[in-house]
Amino acid sequence: MASPPPHVSIIVPTFNEAHTVAELTRRLDSALAGMAWEVIFVDDDSPDGTAAAVKSLASADTRVRCIRRVNRRGLSGACIEGILSSAAPIVAVMDGDLQHDETILPGMIARLDRDECDIVVGSRLVEGGSSADGFTASRAFASNFAIRMAGMLVGSGVTDLTSGYFAMKREPFEAMAPRLTTSGFKILLDVLATAQPPLRASEAGYRFRSRFAGESKFDARAMGDFVGLIVHKATGGAIPPRFVMFIAVGGFGVAVHLLTLRLAMDLGVENFTLAQSIATVVAMTSNFIVNNTLTYADCKLKGAKALVGLLQFYAVCGVGAIANVGVASWMFGMDQAWWVAALAGVVMGSVWNYTMSSMFVWGKKD
Ligand code: GDD
Ligand code: MN
Repeated sequence: MASPPPHVSIIVPTFNEAHTVAELTRRLDSALAGMAWEVIFVDDDSPDGTAAAVKSLASADTRVRCIRRVNRRGLSGACIEGILSSAAPIVAVMDGDLQHDETILPGMIARLDRDECDIVVGSRLVEGGSSADGFTASRAFASNFAIRMAGMLVGSGVTDLTSGYFAMKREPFEAMAPRLTTSGFKILLDVLATAQPPLRASEAGYRFRSRFAGESKFDARAMGDFVGLIVHKATGGAIPPRFVMFIAVGGFGVAVHLLTLRLAMDLGVENFTLAQSIATVVAMTSNFIVNNTLTYADCKLKGAKALVGLLQFYAVCGVGAIANVGVASWMFGMDQAWWVAALAGVVMGSVWNYTMSSMFVWGKKD
């Protein structure tokens, strides 16, 4: 007779966590004693051999599984795939670096079993929760700011909206899965904002531990992703999260352009057209580099491919500029105010640049 099917699947996204997967499994084993559980590590082909470490655990313990994803990066996508691979009535998501306190899991699961709610969020911000040793001050500030913005959007009553630690019923997740965003860091926010009908949510406090090995991947990019997701949801899905990032980078490019132009003129480039051309190339190049590292981090071009990408990016932006001027002139000719015409041109150019670079330079469809 086969062993009983798991009542709960713990989904653990990993990237370079080879040193903690065994310890995490041991801790789950003691925290979840007496329960039918499994742990599903979803690893994005970490160079440190996390997947191999998990598979060696799995060869000795049938409760351990590994999904090794290749040529893909992304925390949200990893969590979604892990959850969708489960058949258990309850799923939980937690980090693989031991920062999340596994001892509160039984309590979270019990609340779902009693049908008190559909999702329980591990929270650093409610009674019993803290992040004293897990957070730097600037990180805490950024996190609080993001949380407040997000709170306005979802109104679920959850305070720790950027938490990467939660347990929920699998059924509502299956229903909303096709509408979730696979890029980015913020699966919890996405789940709460997407669920229809809204999930009944509650929180369980825990102490966010400090990392004892490896390094955090939550950075400026994660912050950008988060803001992108908020705009995406606030516009009813009309604006892709990546577009928001692309536009922010474009705004930064305008500043680079102006600075370079000023510098070139100060350095004695007397011909304005020449100075303007230099500034244009510098701004396009810096936009390419920043987009390649932030906006398209999940499909970053490297080496010779980056060089080809840069040339393609110049071409796309060149056509974008023509489209921009074309639309603006046409609108101006139709008796629109100069600034309306200019804005329409900028919007046209940006949408063109974004769509075409996504498709041709970085090979993305979203
Ligand atoms: N599969 C996969 N792919 N896993 C990833 C990726 C990825 O691209 N990026 C990170 N992970 C894994 C890490 O290995 C870790 O297990 C977990 O996701 C969280 O990543 P950390 O880099 O440790 O995040 P953190 O500790 O800085 O951030 C924590 O706090 C945030 C709130 O401020 C996490 O709990 C986040 O989920 C949370 O949003
Ligand atoms: Mn962490």
